[in-house]
Amino acid sequence: MNPYKEVERLASSVAGRDIRGSFPPEGKGDYAFPLGFLLAREFGKKPEEAAREAAEKLRHPLLAEVKVEGGYVNVFFDRDEFLKSVWEEAVDPNYGRGEGGKAFVIDYSSPNIAKPMHVGHLRSTILGEAVKRILSWRGHRAIGLNYLGDIGTQFGALIVAFKRWVDEERLRKDPIKELLRIYVKFHEEAERDPSLEEEARKEFEKLERGDPENVALWKRFRELSLEGFERIYRRLGVSFDVVVGESDFVEEARKVSRELLEKGMAKIWEEGDKKGAIVADLEGEGLNHPVLLKSDGTTIYLSRDLASLLWRVREFNPDVLLYVVAIEQNLHFRQLFTVAKKLGVDRELVHLAFGMVHVEGMRLSTRRGQVVFLEDILDTAVNHVREEMMKRGTYSAEDAERVGVSSVVFWMLKAEPKKDVTFRWKDVTSFTGESGPYVQYAYVRAKNILRKAGEANTSPLTPEGEEWEIVKKVALFPLVLEEVEKKYTPHLLARYLLDLSSAFHHFYDHNRVLGDPREPLRLWIVKAVKNVLEIGQELLAMKPPERM
Ligand code: ARG
Repeated sequence: MNPYKEVERLASSVAGRDIRGSFPPEGKGDYAFPLGFLLAREFGKKPEEAAREAAEKLRHPLLAEVKVEGGYVNVFFDRDEFLKSVWEEAVDPNYGRGEGGKAFVIDYSSPNIAKPMHVGHLRSTILGEAVKRILSWRGHRAIGLNYLGDIGTQFGALIVAFKRWVDEERLRKDPIKELLRIYVKFHEEAERDPSLEEEARKEFEKLERGDPENVALWKRFRELSLEGFERIYRRLGVSFDVVVGESDFVEEARKVSRELLEKGMAKIWEEGDKKGAIVADLEGEGLNHPVLLKSDGTTIYLSRDLASLLWRVREFNPDVLLYVVAIEQNLHFRQLFTVAKKLGVDRELVHLAFGMVHVEGMRLSTRRGQVVFLEDILDTAVNHVREEMMKRGTYSAEDAERVGVSSVVFWMLKAEPKKDVTFRWKDVTSFTGESGPYVQYAYVRAKNILRKAGEANTSPLTPEGEEWEIVKKVALFPLVLEEVEKKYTPHLLARYLLDLSSAFHHFYDHNRVLGDPREPLRLWIVKAVKNVLEIGQELLAMKPPERM
């Protein structure tokens, strides 16, 4: 049992409820519980006295000393016992695994076809992949689902553009770029000649009615797009268990819209430009009257999402449905979840909302063609890393790719999901800042030491000074994962890895490992740090390098 968990359990039994510890100020103890505050009323005493009484009950071989500070009970661990309790676990390749047992469907990436994936999708892809990996590690069934935006009026525009301006040669070379070029051209031309918009509407209607030529074109857009997306996924090491598209849910969306109407949860709109549409009645919830089905019978993002949600429940029977989608879609998901609940869906529905991504001053709009191509982002990072490796004389193409791509991944994950992320290349790829390379460099250093150590043995000694600080940090890993698992917050893992790396770099700069009398313990520390950094990288979808 993890020593923190063990002591937490003891404190919980004293408190009479589940409590978590926190970290007291430097020198005041290793872990702390607000037991005095929690028990003051029950004991009919002041917090400090209640804390003193509770402290009496905290007796455990793991505890060397228990001190009262105001309403807090601060504990000092017995270092030998503490080390003993993590000695095997922390160097085990399965360290931090959990026994979860829930099922999750995680909707992530979910780009729109015939358009390049934008940085928002990149964030979704990376965040979703990390959440999926962490949930699986914790023993859950985590199903990754890519829900392609493969329907929408923009296909009308694209068909018009394709018929007029496509260059097959360019299309073969880089399909997504060519589709983007003609899409942008359409919008430029349409500004001068508005009749193009009308034409696009007609083509879209033909597509909806199943016109063979347009359907064939649409299929081609879809395939070409998927090819383009796969390139990125391969480079990132991302994979999905299921790929579906909005177009798979058109029929069901019509049905469920009509069902809502029959059940009195939706109504027919009677005025203005929505006249004749079926709208959900969410007035009572303060979520307006979103359209489900237009008067001409065409479905909409919301009704397709609803149909697809119901399908996910039937098909995978998950406990939790997770949607890793930009914060701007907040209203959409509130509407979606509210309607689903009305229909009796009794699963946990979570919109894991994330903020914007800025890439060094660039603004993004597909319509105007100002797109940051994701491959360019990855390439830029790799180039920066290559330069640094050249300087250090450690360059290899494989490692530059691993560290460069991982630096982008880490940068995305380091930020709390709801906060914006800004890419400044110097920071992203720095070997010394709070970056991916900094973590990976700690890992590489640990590996180098272990390589040199060969078969040398480890054995426990009472940890001192910086040794003790690292031992404690290593033991925190399962607690961090537990927290990330509960709140879907991989940034806590990223920050923990930074913290551990920084402690390790510092330790190694100031302490000899090989040849020191304390080598048997220090070597174990290096092994444990390497193990945690290795698992941590895997869980964050980073790729461990050999040399840096
Ligand atoms: N394709 C959508 C977009 O790019 C994201 C889809 C997210 N998933 C969902 N089930 N709505 O904005």
